[in-house]
Amino acid sequence: MGSVFNTDRRIKLGIWGLGRGQSFIKAAGALNIDVVAGCDINPMMRESFKKNVPGAYLTDDEDDFLRQDMDAVLIATFFMDHARHAIKALEAGKHVMCEVTSFLTPGDGVKLVEAVERSGKVYNLLENYPFTKENMFLRKLFQDGFFGEFMYAEFEYLHECRTLAYAYNVANGVPIEPGYAVHSWRSFLNMHYYNTHSLGPVMNITGLRPVSVYAPVDDVILPGYLDELRTASVCPSFVKMSNGGLVRNLMGSSTNDYHMGGRFWGTRAGADKLNGLKIRVGACGGGQLLNIKPEWPELGELAETTGHGGGDFWELYYFAREVLQGEPAPWNIYAAADVTLAGIMAARSQAMNGITLNIPDFRKPEDRERFRNDFRHEMKKDFDPMGLFPEGHDTSITGNYSKVMVGFYPKNANGGLPCFNKALDGMKLYSFIADADGKLAIVKNVMKAIAEMPELAKICKMARRIADAYPDCIPGRSLKRLLAQPDIAKVEDTEKTTAEFKAWLDGIKG
Ligand SMILES: NC(=O)c1ccc[n+]([C@@H]2O[C@H](COP(=O)([O-])OP(=O)(O)OC[C@H]3O[C@@H](n4cnc5c(N)ncnc54)[C@H](O)[C@@H]3O)[C@@H](O)[C@H]2O)c1
Repeated sequence: MGSVFNTDRRIKLGIWGLGRGQSFIKAAGALNIDVVAGCDINPMMRESFKKNVPGAYLTDDEDDFLRQDMDAVLIATFFMDHARHAIKALEAGKHVMCEVTSFLTPGDGVKLVEAVERSGKVYNLLENYPFTKENMFLRKLFQDGFFGEFMYAEFEYLHECRTLAYAYNVANGVPIEPGYAVHSWRSFLNMHYYNTHSLGPVMNITGLRPVSVYAPVDDVILPGYLDELRTASVCPSFVKMSNGGLVRNLMGSSTNDYHMGGRFWGTRAGADKLNGLKIRVGACGGGQLLNIKPEWPELGELAETTGHGGGDFWELYYFAREVLQGEPAPWNIYAAADVTLAGIMAARSQAMNGITLNIPDFRKPEDRERFRNDFRHEMKKDFDPMGLFPEGHDTSITGNYSKVMVGFYPKNANGGLPCFNKALDGMKLYSFIADADGKLAIVKNVMKAIAEMPELAKICKMARRIADAYPDCIPGRSLKRLLAQPDIAKVEDTEKTTAEFKAWLDGIKG
């Protein structure tokens, strides 16, 4: 891959947090960035980094890492540690790129903004969703005046990732060890905090900042989560933008996910990107809806080859351009604070039954003063990923907990309960499925469900053992709710259900 910058200057980069952090390695080379060091407390992540970047310095010690000769640090550590880690890296004299979001509390935000200002270093939030081909195309049209004034948008980042609450990293999907523990933030994060993939694109397309937010409460939670730690499973908020327009921002875990969905209304035209990009022209409700093939800006083809739809490339590109050429990147610390605070205030509004809250602007000294000592967040304060079961618990029982949960909800929903549910529901809908591929997929899935049912029944047994032994703790109560689902009874009645599935297969053959 050739370089895109007209300079020989290189940026020495260290990656802190080697799960998501490693997904930037591929794009770095073309952008004058050399990955020279990695840091992770998890030996499995270090092992995989060693294979990907054999010559780089590798350590589990953050102080040792920050002492290395590097210009910049990319932070992809646990969600709630980003501000502390970013401040530490800035104070060690490094430029910073930080994964979403920037901080967990307003007080942390004030500290971070001031640390960036003091350091004189570049700080970029690594928010990638604004840089998909569709969103960059919409931005170009919006900035050219095509849509007129921004009126309203409905964007969503719905991502069902129960597995990640109990497994290491999406790429591995290996049950957490020790088996009675859960993932440090994915098991308890209120999804309002993870708001950047849906609000971020609207901010970037329109150039507007969020000014206030309210978030009504949805009390219904998908079984399989640690119910009492997640305040809701689908988290809608309504965000007022600086021009008076409104965004319905939807996050959470659902049975009908959209990672990049959205609809957008301006005073001149509207857009719909739920299934491909459509734009309605005619400046009226009954105007013509056009199917659109968006085009990348320059470098787009190169961006696309680096994975994640190009978004990761653009994040590194804007950062390197700012470091090498001084041109400001879109997600500087103030934009990062705007989007992060919109999520914090949404979570807070939800906790206060949906009242409207202003989103502070940390460019303003008076707003910083108001929030300087505000370290409140809306997640269970005493949560300890290792301490879910009562003291002295029998690890021969509880040690199977993460294995059980990953067995129920394996990586990519490939097996476990999702496979069983797909079989049951696919059989119900089979005669209404419009295409042959859909029908074939259901037949294959029913065969897979039959093959895997005995194993799934064993997992149910292990789960009952844990729930019966520890009914009065968070995982015990969550497991009880999960095991009360009617589909579980069918799994446990393995012989009868297998016979039903086989009879159905025989029936459709005939
Ligand atoms: N933008 C995106 O599309 C996207 C996708 C996935 C994750 N993320 C973000 O990336 C971050 C990391 O997520 P992930 O999926 O890799 O899962 P993760 O949170 O499990 O990964 C964090 C990694 O950092 C390591 N770590 C934590 N604290 C450390 C410390 N003090 N020193 C050294 N290593 C430490 C952990 O061992 C782990 O390997 C999260 O904040 C998440 O919000 C963003």
